[in-house]
Amino acid sequence: RAFVLRLLQSDREIAVPADRTALACLQDAGIDVASSCEVGVCGTCMTRVREGQADHRDSYLTTAERESCFLPCVSRAVTPVLAIDL
Ligand code: FES
Repeated sequence: RAFVLRLLQSDREIAVPADRTALACLQDAGIDVASSCEVGVCGTCMTRVREGQADHRDSYLTTAERESCFLPCVSRAVTPVLAIDL
């Protein structure tokens, strides 16, 4: 399902289509997000979520971390918009 990433620090919105990852869309938009495994196991791409609900699909974050972060290489959004700290 498609959703929108709202980048709070850079004041931009990036659409994530259903068939692309959030990480790929960020990188295409020129946003510098460090990544490594790209399958949700290393935690390198961890990004802080400020508003909205992430749809976590990784196997890395702890339950506590899931409250405030997501891994854009695999995870998506439950809410139409996910506001993140980038
Ligand atoms: Fe490894 Fe996202 S790049 S968890």
